[in-house]
Amino acid sequence: MHVNGMTIRRFATAASAARALALHLSRCLHQQPQLTLGLPTGRTPIPLYRELAVLHARNAVDFAGVSTFNLDEFVGVAGSAPESYRAFMERHLFSQVNIDPRRVHFLNGAASDAADECRRYERQIARAGGLDLLILGLGTNGHIGFNEPGAWETSPTRMVRLDHLTRHDATKDFQGEDDVPYRAITMGVGSIFKARTVYLMAWGQHKAHIVQQAIEGDISTSVPASFLQKHPNVKVILDK
Ligand code: GLP
Repeated sequence: MHVNGMTIRRFATAASAARALALHLSRCLHQQPQLTLGLPTGRTPIPLYRELAVLHARNAVDFAGVSTFNLDEFVGVAGSAPESYRAFMERHLFSQVNIDPRRVHFLNGAASDAADECRRYERQIARAGGLDLLILGLGTNGHIGFNEPGAWETSPTRMVRLDHLTRHDATKDFQGEDDVPYRAITMGVGSIFKARTVYLMAWGQHKAHIVQQAIEGDISTSVPASFLQKHPNVKVILDK
């Protein structure tokens, strides 16, 4: 099905959607072993990463040539901290597959100069030839990466203030809401737009309303994911 220029694929369950996307990625990797991937964190990609680990265990997918760039990181959180997105990726994907650690890239949330760190990351992505394929989750307020409502269409990788709802949603990864950082660094909407193919994943009843706004609603800075309607190659992967 196509809606506002985006391809929509709907599956019975999140598990079957994740399985289909993992199989699709394994085929892409077979055709292009040196693929450059942009990757998300959050609850949404966990079944996808689990399926990729299963495929890898069966020798059905090879990550040896893959380069990865994660979307975002909390400010003030070092990659070695258990609540960092880097630690999340290690747990859920990188430790489960044969990815070369030298090809894994992150924004450093503990960098002393965030603006400099963001510019460095943009340069690193450009040097890698840009992102072939970027996978996104969707925040309950319509954010992609950490591009909160208000993010502009051409925004670069930068430091942002987190929304109240986003901090609340992130509480599960910290000791309590007070421990959730107020700021993050994220690929911008403009950086996301440079990816050649974008997959947006969302599961569960609680995301239904924001999914509808993102794909059928007006293109608006109040729902940053709605900007994806303008990207030439977006596939939306949903459960019922
Ligand atoms: C965080 C991440 C986003 C992610 C979102 C959704 O805010 N920065 O990249 O898409 O969470 O999280 P979940 O998948 O847990 O709903």
